[in-house]
Amino acid sequence: MPISKTLLIAIIAIVVIAAIGGGLGYYYYSTTQRQPGKITIYVIGKGVHPYWDVVAAGVEQAEKEIKQKFGANIDAEFWTPTKEEAALQLSQVDALIAQKITGLALAPVDAEAAIPYINKAIQQGIITITFDTDSPNSNRPIYIGTDNYKAGYLGGLSAYLIAKQKGYVKPGATLKVGIISATLAAENARNRVQGFMDAIKKSAQADPDIKGNINIQFIGPYEDKGDVSAAVSYALSILQAHPDLHIAFGSNAYEGPAWTQALKQLNYPPGKVVLVQFDVTTDNVPPAWEGYALVTIGQRQYFMGYYSVWLIYNITKMGLEKAIKQFLSQWPQVKAYDTGVDLVAKEHLELTAVTGEKIVIKGLSEYKREMQSLGVDPKLLGLENIP
Ligand code: BGC
Repeated sequence: MPISKTLLIAIIAIVVIAAIGGGLGYYYYSTTQRQPGKITIYVIGKGVHPYWDVVAAGVEQAEKEIKQKFGANIDAEFWTPTKEEAALQLSQVDALIAQKITGLALAPVDAEAAIPYINKAIQQGIITITFDTDSPNSNRPIYIGTDNYKAGYLGGLSAYLIAKQKGYVKPGATLKVGIISATLAAENARNRVQGFMDAIKKSAQADPDIKGNINIQFIGPYEDKGDVSAAVSYALSILQAHPDLHIAFGSNAYEGPAWTQALKQLNYPPGKVVLVQFDVTTDNVPPAWEGYALVTIGQRQYFMGYYSVWLIYNITKMGLEKAIKQFLSQWPQVKAYDTGVDLVAKEHLELTAVTGEKIVIKGLSEYKREMQSLGVDPKLLGLENIP
């Protein structure tokens, strides 16, 4: 039976009203969450430390440039929990997923615990990447940050050589290495510690003067769970139990200053223990300048924040594959963009590892000039008083 003209008009009307209604429904829903067309990007750190202020500055710079260049309606925010606790961080991620933000760069405190959150964000259409520390088993398309195993490894090679220069590495001797870490659930800390330990073990094997004939005693890694006073307590108790400690390592930014505090409290002269710390920040420059931290592994966290925002913005414009490939040509075979590290100390030092690698440790003044030339304000890194 042919449909009457009136019925046809009625059907069309119902379909049109439903479409407009549905559209309006969606439109109304999204405007209650955020301004239509606005690009909202959140960069989420792990805790409160001057390290993260540098990341935040990179985020701000990228936002400024994107606005200036494209007149984009973009808001890039840096947010960090008050403590390095996965639960605090992940509840914020959940809230942001509900707000349907555009993009998210996350530095997971706990690589495994973050997986369902990262995957949920991606599933809901939020462009989600990791930075500073990875969650490689999640669906994140890319990680931007330090190659942490390599960075820890470099630290270990340097520690071994400096310990050898001090006469601590001798055939048949015991080499004592104290290690403190925030939490090994964080991919960066875990890989740094592993790299550091592997480098020392490998050096002792490869060293023609030692040929493996040394007893390497690792004390730790102890996990202070992001608590600075716990880090100081661990450092103190390691030093009290092993007054002849040769090498000290902290995988996180606040642990170098914690070791330094303990060394000072126990009246160790600077340089007696070969301390290797992470990061050049306002808190870490004094231990390096005073000669307590003999090697400082400076990350390029400013660029982690900066690239994260730029990349997410570019993804909104040109799509995931094109934008990431443009940033990292080997993607998707390689899913980590290494922002690089610099080894830094009070004075410039060049070493050749027993395994053959050339190691250049930059002097603080040299490093300051280099950072300046890259557009990073030395004050941000605590370098303003370095000549
Ligand atoms: C790490 C961060 C960490 C910070 C403070 C840095 O070395 O890259 O992940 O939050 O130290 O612990």
